Amino acid sequence: MRHVDARVAERHGNAVHEFVREKYASAARQVAGGGGCSTAESDSCRGDADPVTSDLYAPAEIEGLPMTAVNASLGCGNPTALANLLPGQTVLDLGSGAGLDVLLSAKRVGPEGRAYGLDMTDEMLELARCNAREAGATNVDFLKGRIEAVPLPDHSVDVIISNCVVNLSPDKDAVLREAYRVLRPGGLFAVSDVIVLGELSENIRHDMEAWAGCVAGALGEDEYRSRLGAAGFSDVEVQVTRTYSANEAMGESCCATTAGGGALASAFIRGRKPAGATGNNG
Ligand SMILES: C[S@@+](CC[C@H](N)C(=O)[O-])C[C@H]1O[C@@H](n2cnc3c(N)ncnc32)[C@H](O)[C@@H]1O
Repeated sequence: MRHVDARVAERHGNAVHEFVREKYASAARQVAGGGGCSTAESDSCRGDADPVTSDLYAPAEIEGLPMTAVNASLGCGNPTALANLLPGQTVLDLGSGAGLDVLLSAKRVGPEGRAYGLDMTDEMLELARCNAREAGATNVDFLKGRIEAVPLPDHSVDVIISNCVVNLSPDKDAVLREAYRVLRPGGLFAVSDVIVLGELSENIRHDMEAWAGCVAGALGEDEYRSRLGAAGFSDVEVQVTRTYSANEAMGESCCATTAGGGALASAFIRGRKPAGATGNNG
């Protein structure tokens, strides 16, 4: 499936998942190289000058973490910095990739807390688990599954983070409903994601490479706010952290297949499950 109309992506949900999964399986295989983790050099399509992924973490933050956790980072922000994590909390990272944000969260919540990573791609899970072993992290778990159906009980998580993943989902309302369900009352949804500031051209919206590259599935700011509100979240905030064009975001040297601009942004997106919430739906 090379082309899909983003507006009907929900009807092609499984095909979208499969295309995205294969894309990130391939990225994980590239980073892992001959296998294992920690010392492998990154050969992913994003580089040091990438406008989306570069310079998201302070050197002191990532010091001592496995290179394959750092090099395989494909996020668009630093959600652990946004989330104000506290010792003893339970954190869930939606679409945890090679595990960098889970390892950073694990440090922040300490031995009394727990950090879960959830990802649907076996190759990423393998890399993440290898990185956790290398880092000596004992308060982490990497779970296999889709962010549209989180394999954790109701009200079991204090903070949900995510880094450049919600845009990839063909059913974002299901993702937000699940986030709300697993959060404890008063819990925080604090994610980094790509949003669209203007209009994307139709050819980009229809391009599966652009979907898997975190562009075609991105929501506008107002849409993000209203979907979070519909899921039950309050205190919704959207804070733009950097802007770039669609072509810059896709990396012309490796994955850009469609011409056309369209202003995009990385944003911190926050919402809270109301403290008095009793049910699972807003
Ligand atoms: C752009 S990468 C981001 C990875 C990580 N958050 C980071 O910052 O490096 C997207 C990740 O989300 C996973 N993913 C994408 N869609 C997913 C879904 N619907 N359910 C579970 N995982 C998903 C992919 O397998 C991949 O590991």
